[in-house]
Amino acid sequence: MSGTAAEAAPATQPAQAPSPAAAGPRYLITGASGMLGLDLQAALAARGADVTALGRSDLDVTDADAVLRAVAGHDVVFNLAAYTRVDDAEEFEHEAFDVNAIGAGNVASAARESGATIIHVSTDYVFDGSATSPYPEDAPYSPLSAYGRTKAEGERRVLHEHPSGAFVVRTAWLYGSNGSNFPKTMLKLIAGRDTVSVVTDQFGQPTWTVDVAAQLLRLADSHAEPGIYHATNSGDTSWFAFTQALFGELGIDPDKVQPTDSSQFVRPAPRPAYSVLGHDAWSRAGIEPMRRWGEALHAAAVSGTFGDTWQRFGSSSTRS
Ligand SMILES: NC(=O)c1ccc[n+]([C@@H]2O[C@H](COP(=O)([O-])OP(=O)(O)OC[C@H]3O[C@@H](n4cnc5c(N)ncnc54)[C@H](OP(=O)(O)O)[C@@H]3O)[C@@H](O)[C@H]2O)c1
Repeated sequence: MSGTAAEAAPATQPAQAPSPAAAGPRYLITGASGMLGLDLQAALAARGADVTALGRSDLDVTDADAVLRAVAGHDVVFNLAAYTRVDDAEEFEHEAFDVNAIGAGNVASAARESGATIIHVSTDYVFDGSATSPYPEDAPYSPLSAYGRTKAEGERRVLHEHPSGAFVVRTAWLYGSNGSNFPKTMLKLIAGRDTVSVVTDQFGQPTWTVDVAAQLLRLADSHAEPGIYHATNSGDTSWFAFTQALFGELGIDPDKVQPTDSSQFVRPAPRPAYSVLGHDAWSRAGIEPMRRWGEALHAAAVSGTFGDTWQRFGSSSTRS
């Protein structure tokens, strides 16, 4: 799953006439086969960038020597490799720690050794959700879950290993056309029943992976100060209202979404009740924060993000 634009150039191309991509920064993506990684690959491909995209089978970030070798020769490293099975992490925290904390530290240390910038993706789950206004970038860690603890430790290690060249970018409530995610689950459920019950008491920022990928590139292109940034679509909503909006976008009756609360959906890992992230660091860096979640949802629907799922599972439930 790796390949660079430079490698793909015709063999006859003179060495003295590098392609525009070869003259630009060399990017590396770890965890490149994941939901966000695939959209980041697409965003980089669209600009003809020189990118090495490594899935887990190409590069295991827990292998420090392999990471050092892989990072060498790159200018910007996007660390998207992560143990993301939030509930499983309660039982297998050490496995999550290996990837999310030790692995992240390995990538940051290799980036420092190579003189590269690291853009490390993290999560709203580093907070406990007891706030009532958006979490600023410098809010203290307060994870509720094993996954959140391992991601918080990953952030610490990344910032400690490479203070002059590390960007920690937290995102949340991701959905996109790849992998499994909440909207796809809702669409599968409603295809087989009359209603879905969704919690009204958890608030956050539904965020489209395509928008995160674009924001990561804006950050990589910028002269922003290293540190912590929040890459979530703006505004906030509950899972309940988000599901209603999703159904509305796709022509499904929003009344098919029934309200419930978290006491009816107890899962192994506790979730923060309010994990809305503040966006002040973007303004300080002269970068526009990401658009509102409703606009992003509309753009995602129009571009066919939910198309396959809906055609396969939902066509009998549409209103028209
Ligand atoms: N999804 C969300 O709602 C959400 C919310 C907040 C933050 N985030 C963060 O966003 C980032 C991307 O998440 P995502 O949703 O795209 O997750 P994802 O689809 O699970 O992608 C993560 C990728 O990392 C790979 N990986 C796991 N262990 C690895 C290892 N030891 N070495 C190298 N690669 C490894 C996974 O491979 P396998 O599939 O083979 O295990 C997977 O392809 C992560 O940092 C995540 O914590 C996600």
